[in-house]
Amino acid sequence: MFYLTFVARHKNITRNSTEIMYSTLLVSHSLIRWLVLAFLLYSIYRAFVGYINNKTFSKTDNAFRHWTATITHIQLMIGIIVYTQSPIVKYFWKETEIGLQNLDLTFYGVIHIFLMLTAIVILTIGSALAKRKPTDKEKFKTMLVWFSIALIIIFIAIPWTFSPLSSRPNFRTF
Ligand code: HEM
Repeated sequence: MFYLTFVARHKNITRNSTEIMYSTLLVSHSLIRWLVLAFLLYSIYRAFVGYINNKTFSKTDNAFRHWTATITHIQLMIGIIVYTQSPIVKYFWKETEIGLQNLDLTFYGVIHIFLMLTAIVILTIGSALAKRKPTDKEKFKTMLVWFSIALIIIFIAIPWTFSPLSSRPNFRTF
């Protein structure tokens, strides 16, 4: 009897802590989207101004190139954990036939992850190429092109309140 009570309590604690972790990560994932967008937009702006005005690729430009990629990679890590814990994703893979008939389930099961991974790969390649370019003009141009493509894909894959694919709050609270 004591053993059964212990097991039941232990299971509850485990389930609750997993749920708390999931909702904390989901809130973080939702919030960090704004950081990703702010860094991407500002990096693209700096790259554009630098390219047009033949500026020197400064330490600040390099820091924005670096931090934009880093913040996006942090978002990727959180996204992967959220993906493994999400009840929506779990349901999609359990009942794939039903899942594929429902846009919201398909969005989180495949569309969101596929588009975001593509965008993050493009952004990472752009960042690495820009770092290795011999001239400042080429560095700015590389950042401008690759980061802009990544931004467009990320923008499409975010479940904005106005998105036809899936809609989630712009600011999630617990
Ligand atoms: C730049 C990259 C990304 C951005 C900006 C982003 C943004 C978002 C946003 C705004 C949401 C809605 C959160 C909410 O419900 O309040 C979301 C949900 C989600 N994201 Fe991402 N995401 C990114 C990358 C990823 C990646 C790479 C994965 C998977 C590996 C992922 C997995 C998920 C999942 C599974 C959900 C839904 C979770 C649920 O409602 O149960 N995300 N994402």
